[in-house]
Amino acid sequence: MITLGIETSCDETSVAVVRDFEEILSNIILSQLVHAGFGGVVPEIASREHLKAVVTVFEQAMAKAGIGPEDIDLITATYGPGLVGALLVGLNFGKGLAYGYDKPFVAVNHLEGHIAANFIMHKNLPDKHLTLIISGGHTSLVLVEGFGKYILLGQTKDDAVGEAYDKVAKLLGLGYPGGAEIDRLGKVGDRKYFRFPRGVIKENSFDFSYSGLKTAVALHVRDLSDLELEAHRADIAASFQEAALEVLVVKTVRAAEEYGIGAVTLSGGVASNSRLKDLMLKKLSNKKIDFYFPPPDLCTDNAAMIAAAGYMRYKLDGPSDLNTNAIPYLKLV
Ligand code: KG4
Ligand code: ZN
Repeated sequence: MITLGIETSCDETSVAVVRDFEEILSNIILSQLVHAGFGGVVPEIASREHLKAVVTVFEQAMAKAGIGPEDIDLITATYGPGLVGALLVGLNFGKGLAYGYDKPFVAVNHLEGHIAANFIMHKNLPDKHLTLIISGGHTSLVLVEGFGKYILLGQTKDDAVGEAYDKVAKLLGLGYPGGAEIDRLGKVGDRKYFRFPRGVIKENSFDFSYSGLKTAVALHVRDLSDLELEAHRADIAASFQEAALEVLVVKTVRAAEEYGIGAVTLSGGVASNSRLKDLMLKKLSNKKIDFYFPPPDLCTDNAAMIAAAGYMRYKLDGPSDLNTNAIPYLKLV
């Protein structure tokens, strides 16, 4: 079955063609660079940029896959969570195509898409596993009992971990989004330069908190001269990462042990982080727990994960109603 995926929930315009739950024929991702000058995503600009790009990105995805509209069996698009104006562009484009070409349509939960990214990549991934969804908008620890069966174990009480990365990047004078740049700088910095607070690490829950860490970095930077900041930029990046990531690792490992889970996956933009992957691999292999993560273009927001999740949803529930509307605060469970 050939599935078209459309993703426009935030600042990536993406269209993909995927065969079944397996083979990615194309996955075109256009990241909107225009937001960099504002230091964060401007919702109204995001919607307009999606409108300008979506048809071209669709045509590129079709050309790369070497198919025409008549070859598509199923059309899927993200309907939440995300920015409402941005979601509406992809959702309406998908519904319009489905109506025009008389194809079934499935509206996809973006978070279920992130979960599907690991299923497409790792054919041996056990149905039952623990997944950490970490991005600019989410920090959630989810027990997956199989595709479509989820228990939310914990989530952030305030900022998402990716948001903290982006805010710290701004404080350090790096570009937006700054996660990848902090990752790169952190490799050459001193991780022990300063001990930033590990939010709610001692709490018994599987929840997270990043606003205190962000404020601690802001206060630290405020007290430095320009020269000191210049000299310690990489050290601050490295020390910030240790605080941000230790909580993720400690709570994920604890949840895996408590629930007797033998496999852990990462997904979302922050899942690309090299230090996080190193730390997780070390701690999980000590406990004989398998560890999986997608390649970078399936970590970040992309339409291949939406097509794969939509295909599975279609098999489970059949098509969605063409009246389905965007839901900005859509939950996974
Ligand atoms: O999943 P994603 O593309 O979009 C959202 O749904 O938010 O995630 C984007 C986030 C941004 O906050 C970005 O700074 C962060 O992922 N990110 C990283 C890395 N690459 C992207 N954070 C840490 N390390 C990275 N290598
Ligand atoms: Zn995402």
